[in-house]
Amino acid sequence: MRIDPVERRLAHAASVADLRRIARRRLPAGVFDYIDGAAEDERTAAANQEAFTRTSFRPRVLRGVQNVDPTATLLGQPLDYPLVLAPTGFTRIADPAGELAVARAAERAGLPYTLSTLSTRSIEEVRQVSSGRLWFQVYAWKDKDLIKEMIQRAAASNYEALVLTVDTVVHGRRERDVRRGFSLPPAIGMKTLIDGAVHPSWTWALLSSEPIRFANVVGRGVGDGATPVTLSDYINSQFDPTLSWKDVEWLRSIWDRPIVLKGIQAVDDAVTAAEAGVDAIVLSNHGGRQLDGAPPTFDLIAPVADAVGGRTEIICDGGVRRGSHIVKALAAGAHAVMAGRPYLYGLGAAGERGVDLVLSWFRADMVRTMTLIGVERVDQLDRSFLQI
Ligand SMILES: Cc1cc2nc3c(=O)[nH]c(=O)nc-3n(C[C@H](O)[C@H](O)[C@H](O)COP(=O)(O)O)c2cc1C
Repeated sequence: MRIDPVERRLAHAASVADLRRIARRRLPAGVFDYIDGAAEDERTAAANQEAFTRTSFRPRVLRGVQNVDPTATLLGQPLDYPLVLAPTGFTRIADPAGELAVARAAERAGLPYTLSTLSTRSIEEVRQVSSGRLWFQVYAWKDKDLIKEMIQRAAASNYEALVLTVDTVVHGRRERDVRRGFSLPPAIGMKTLIDGAVHPSWTWALLSSEPIRFANVVGRGVGDGATPVTLSDYINSQFDPTLSWKDVEWLRSIWDRPIVLKGIQAVDDAVTAAEAGVDAIVLSNHGGRQLDGAPPTFDLIAPVADAVGGRTEIICDGGVRRGSHIVKALAAGAHAVMAGRPYLYGLGAAGERGVDLVLSWFRADMVRTMTLIGVERVDQLDRSFLQI
């Protein structure tokens, strides 16, 4: 009897936490820490998850619930359940199929996928494998012509929305990466060779696939990752720390589809974004990877929802590890959530099938949770279902 090795690896996995454990075993330590780590004491990263776990439901029973339906709409379009796959740079480091695998899995699940500017497959390559909803995330590069060109390419490839990340004007201090001297791609030195030998399947997959690059900027003279560089040196030299609301106006002048601001962390900024006509905001602290001490994003949902009063859509990002967390975010007042590490753990643990698994668990969790709290549709969720 031949047993598929991926199947064997996944046989005892029942949660995102299990996939994280498998990914930790399979990936070299530096790669796992790049994905899993966060800034400084990693308190904000932990707080993002705690905010979900410390909030309990107020379940209602005997309500004759049937045909529970987790579908929703976001930016005026339907989605199978209210999750958007967050942008993550350098995805091929977790598995050579990288962004292509994630885009395919997202389309199969009926969910939008946000491609990072710092992706290792290009805007066009990802569109070639997916006819689903794709969003494109931009960072504020100093080179405005480069941003404009990428945005035009995203429009030509029929990306639906632009996501401007506003929390990364300088790079957060990710101390796990600092300790390891971690670079992208990993520099080949004694430590990497030893780590590689201990993780032969990852090393073989990396060596036998084409070299990893920042695929959107190849040949543009801004460093495309062909030579190892630490992410902090890269971001601090290439990104514009003077980013301001004027740049949002500029984006509006060159992109006529929805604009999403990712990295809003205060009620006042959420209101300014709504007044500026931004289509959606992502309450995000970059998964705790930027400002350690930033508030857990779940705690921002209710005050932001009250202050913006439906003038912009609210997406909560950070710490989502189960479908029940999505239900909590919606009940607090969000329209959808984003998640990053969960699908990267899936990819690192089992490639594309690992991503499929995470996305199917989230949906099934949502349906079960809604059934158990007595709700049939997402628009019936409100704060009366939460103890907050
Ligand atoms: C490995 C990794 C790379 C990331 N790269 C980007 C990026 O290129 N652009 C961006 O806006 N956010 C990036 N993020 C942040 C995610 O989009 C998202 O905000 C975060 O992962 C949410 O927290 P979660 O991992 O707890 O779901 C990255 C996150 C991780 C874990």
